[in-house]
Amino acid sequence: MGKKVLVIGAGGREHALVWKLAQSPLIEKIYAAPGNPGIGELAELVNVGADDVEGLLSFAKREAIDLTVVGPEIPLLAGVVDSFAKAGLSIFGPTAAAAQIEASKAFAKKLMRQCNIPTAEFKVFSQIEPAREYARTFTEKGRPVVIKADGLAAGKGVVIAVNTKEAEDVLESMLLRDAFGDAGRTVVVEECLQGEEVSFFVVCNGNDYLPIMSAQDHKRAFDGDQGPNTGGMGAYVNPPVFTDELQQKVEKEIIAPVIKAMKREGIPFCGVLYAGLMITDAGPKVLEFNARFGDPETQVLMPMLESDLFPVLEAAAKGESFAGVKMEIKKGACLGVVLAAGGYPGAFAKGMVISGLESLDRDTLIFHAGTKINEGNLVTSGGRVLAVVCCGSDFKAAALKVYQQIGRVNFENMHYRRDVGERVWKKSAAAGKRRADYGF
Ligand SMILES: Nc1ncnc2c1ncn2[C@@H]1O[C@H](COP(=O)(O)OP(=O)(O)O)[C@@H](O)[C@H]1O
Ligand SMILES: [Mg+2]
Repeated sequence: MGKKVLVIGAGGREHALVWKLAQSPLIEKIYAAPGNPGIGELAELVNVGADDVEGLLSFAKREAIDLTVVGPEIPLLAGVVDSFAKAGLSIFGPTAAAAQIEASKAFAKKLMRQCNIPTAEFKVFSQIEPAREYARTFTEKGRPVVIKADGLAAGKGVVIAVNTKEAEDVLESMLLRDAFGDAGRTVVVEECLQGEEVSFFVVCNGNDYLPIMSAQDHKRAFDGDQGPNTGGMGAYVNPPVFTDELQQKVEKEIIAPVIKAMKREGIPFCGVLYAGLMITDAGPKVLEFNARFGDPETQVLMPMLESDLFPVLEAAAKGESFAGVKMEIKKGACLGVVLAAGGYPGAFAKGMVISGLESLDRDTLIFHAGTKINEGNLVTSGGRVLAVVCCGSDFKAAALKVYQQIGRVNFENMHYRRDVGERVWKKSAAAGKRRADYGF
């Protein structure tokens, strides 16, 4: 009998997961709660919110779901994994306690300190005076300092302050004026690292891990890394900076020790561990850990997976060894660009009709995020609307194809970055290659 799988979430990440799982010969049926129109082409949509733990649990029991896969962090923190596990249901993701590695930056930093994982120098504060004083030890030397709200702050809780005044303003807004509510009542103050950022993803079963791939994303809204931070405007896999040698170092110095430490603490980590890294001159250092797949990174990771994803997620969820499963990665490159509503991440309009998707090449992937069906039309319903993803024999081929395909898609005030992946050719330019060598 084929398996029944439930995917929790409604974004591009979940669309990519459903797209990949839909190719598994082991799966008979996929449900998504609540999903989106793109997911609805591959799975049965269930009208239960991603954070409605009770609703999800009763659905999974009623339908005898064999494996539930959690996309976003909110249900993890709401204890969806704990509730399912208690009911004897298989679910892929960390418990609420283990998800603290993402939800509390102070927890993550202390854990890293305990096991000597390379990360920025830091201290944790909930009182303003000592926090100011520590921040000054950086700014008085003319160095920037990074101030992070401890809890989840939708990507807005991190500020790089370049002088004492800025640092004090940020500390006051978090610690005295509750700018981030509970999330900012404790702050991490840390050294500002220099280097290139890479995300590295592994799947964990509580004891051990299986590497997936590395990726880079583009957080700022506009070309040249200008404008406000967003959820992510584009991504690509296997950036050249993350060499095999570097990956080995990260696995040995970062991934293996953190998994061991979590187990030792009695909160073994099951699920995707996503390390946000800065590749500094002194080697890779951890900026943060996330406890789930990235968005939009998953939209470029899934197309690169050769092997079936289901056995990996099932083994991890059951705490079984990875010896019997594989994670085969395709050769080549994969790059995705997010099409956003004009104005995002600020105020934006909704309900614009999306056109041109039917004219895309068959091997172009479209992952839906903020879309819905309105009177038979596919319309926008969020800030990040779609991701257009293409694979290619190399970086150049993938990037060229994506931008060529985007030329066929439209909605009113559509906005996207035209330089996704550009930092790769810029680096290569420094190494003697010209932009033209990459064809864009
Ligand atoms: N110590 C640091 N040095 C330099 N940049 C940092 C540092 N910590 C965070 N950043 C920058 O801020 C961004 C957000 O920080 P991160 O810790 O990933 O928090 P979150 O993703 O929860 O907002 C990072 O992607 C990185 O660009
Ligand atoms: Mg981050």
